[in-house]
Amino acid sequence: MIGFDGKKGLVLGVANQRSIALAVARQLDALGAELCLTYGPDPKGRFEAHVRGFADQMNVTQIHPLDVREDGDVVRLFANLEQAWGGLDFLVHSVAFADRDELTRPFSQTSREGWNLALDVSAYSLLPIVREGSRLMRANGGGSIAVMSFIGSVLAVPNYHVMGPAKAALESAIRYLARELGPDNIRINAVSAGAIRTLSSSGVKQFGDMLKVAGEHSALQRNVTVEEIAQTTAFLLSSGASAITGQSIYVDCGYNIMAN
Ligand SMILES: NC(=O)c1ccc[n+]([C@@H]2O[C@H](COP(=O)([O-])OP(=O)(O)OC[C@H]3O[C@@H](n4cnc5c(N)ncnc54)[C@H](O)[C@@H]3O)[C@@H](O)[C@H]2O)c1
Repeated sequence: MIGFDGKKGLVLGVANQRSIALAVARQLDALGAELCLTYGPDPKGRFEAHVRGFADQMNVTQIHPLDVREDGDVVRLFANLEQAWGGLDFLVHSVAFADRDELTRPFSQTSREGWNLALDVSAYSLLPIVREGSRLMRANGGGSIAVMSFIGSVLAVPNYHVMGPAKAALESAIRYLARELGPDNIRINAVSAGAIRTLSSSGVKQFGDMLKVAGEHSALQRNVTVEEIAQTTAFLLSSGASAITGQSIYVDCGYNIMAN
């Protein structure tokens, strides 16, 4: 039911060995999928080499650069996929960015530029990707999409700041996209993941405290692992989740249901 033999899909957001997207790609690879990976902009130029190295260990047949702020990149990426694959079965959006400075000031001090950048990369970017990706999914008679979110979309999490509204926008967007794409048999869901130590989360001040609190106050009294997030993502993308769309599914050891 959750096999991906013969399925082709795109995973956005692998930067290094800690990336949630890498765990998701490895899970999908283990379940039989053929993958396309992308690498985002990196001032130090390491992401491409990382992605190519990881790709060697998986059934990755396409690797492309992608800056989600560049519409031309998005169009080029899907034109390449259309030429190579004809259609697309699934896609994973695991991309976010906020300027570190914006996460260290009080929330009300967020600059207009900082707000626009965080919401552009972390939320708006889903729309052009889905626009292009859904075109290829229709060619296959349907498909499924997963995005990564965080509980900061609905709760005021210390130091998460501008990323909270960005994740709220992302989760709202998946509901509107689910309504729009449902008639074409395309599903879209968010995985609201518990805290994981990654490159992105290192930009959140006192992230270690967040991990400690989540570990102590979750129903399961531990932190989630990146493999558990990847397993649920694969499930949501699979035919096993064929009636699930427009949802934000918490994969956080039950942290979100606890009152303290
Ligand atoms: N780490 C956590 O605790 C946590 C918890 C819940 C949700 N998430 C979400 O998971 C997703 C992946 O984050 P992660 O924690 O694995 O960190 P990460 O830093 O490994 O991944 C973030 C990715 O975003 C990409 N990116 C940033 N700007 C981009 C741009 N302009 N164009 C293209 N790509 C760009 C980076 O290249 C990187 O691959 C994000 O949406 C994040 O908000 C993370």
